Amino acid sequence: MKPSLIEMLVCPGCGSALELKEQFSEGSDIKEGILSCRGCSSIFPIRNFIPRFVETDKYVDTFSFEWNKFHDVQMDILNNTDASENTFGWKTGWKPEDIRGRLILDAGVGAGRFADVASRWDGEVIGVDLSYAVDVAFKNIGKRKNVHIIHADIFHLPFKKEYFDHAYSIGVLHHTPDTEKAFKAVVPYLKKSGEFAVFIYAHGHYHYFSDIWRKITTKLPIKCMYYLSSVAMPLYYIHKIPFFGKAAQFLLPTANWPKRRWRWLDTFDWYTPKYQWKHTWPEVFKWFRDEGFSGIELFQEDKEGSLGQICMKGRKS
Ligand SMILES: C[S@@+](CC[C@H](N)C(=O)[O-])C[C@H]1O[C@@H](n2cnc3c(N)ncnc32)[C@H](O)[C@@H]1O
Repeated sequence: MKPSLIEMLVCPGCGSALELKEQFSEGSDIKEGILSCRGCSSIFPIRNFIPRFVETDKYVDTFSFEWNKFHDVQMDILNNTDASENTFGWKTGWKPEDIRGRLILDAGVGAGRFADVASRWDGEVIGVDLSYAVDVAFKNIGKRKNVHIIHADIFHLPFKKEYFDHAYSIGVLHHTPDTEKAFKAVVPYLKKSGEFAVFIYAHGHYHYFSDIWRKITTKLPIKCMYYLSSVAMPLYYIHKIPFFGKAAQFLLPTANWPKRRWRWLDTFDWYTPKYQWKHTWPEVFKWFRDEGFSGIELFQEDKEGSLGQICMKGRKS
């Protein structure tokens, strides 16, 4: 954790400033320490360079596993591609000049694929996640001077209100117990005129069977699901067989990306999370409107291999 982060954090319980009580630093970063609330005296540890505002990974243990296993798959910097950069651009509608010099909240940072892009676009990024993906994100990008990684819950964020220039939450809110509440939990931390970009799962006919499969797969041991979801790698070729392939895809939907391990990751990611809500774009539009956003835009671009999505952005009034 960078010492400069302390000024940005507050107690998620009472909103008071935090004080660094003990610390062990490595280079200029704080590796271990204690943050203490000046108001209510709550204590928050810093472990392995990351301030921890939650004690467990609650209902997102599948993501802790997922991002540890697939830590590199979607990271442009580790694959020498621009896949995540392109995706970030079309999912948010932002260009580098929208991000440069701005303070950005990544609500649900995962392994850091999009925080990597926003920081390469010269934003100062704070990535938050409830799972132990934070340790992976830290390894991937946490040492950069414009990146901060925090272990916290979207529903109890440790920031001052109206603090961020922009926020995004890509593929996260529908994995919480309540998508709408999660959306509304992030909004207060955005400055007026700040933009909020979200990507949320949409309903789709291809979910009919996957919703049935998920009743079983979400109960299976996680290691078992890790191996079972690898079936997406060979199924890709079967899906190319005329008629039979379409039927197979309908009955057992799996990710269809050209990259092998990406298919494996996305299929695991589809069948294991405890919560996976789907919505319609008018629903999401209403959430933006209820929170007083203007200039609401929908970016609907169905890419081959994607399993249904709503990408929407608005400006806080
Ligand atoms: C599908 S992953 C997406 C990660 C990243 N945004 C990406 O696109 O690669 C969903 C992430 O949301 C996180 N998440 C779910 N509920 C959360 C909450 N209440 N607070 C913070 N993160 C949460 C999970 O831990 C997981 O890493």
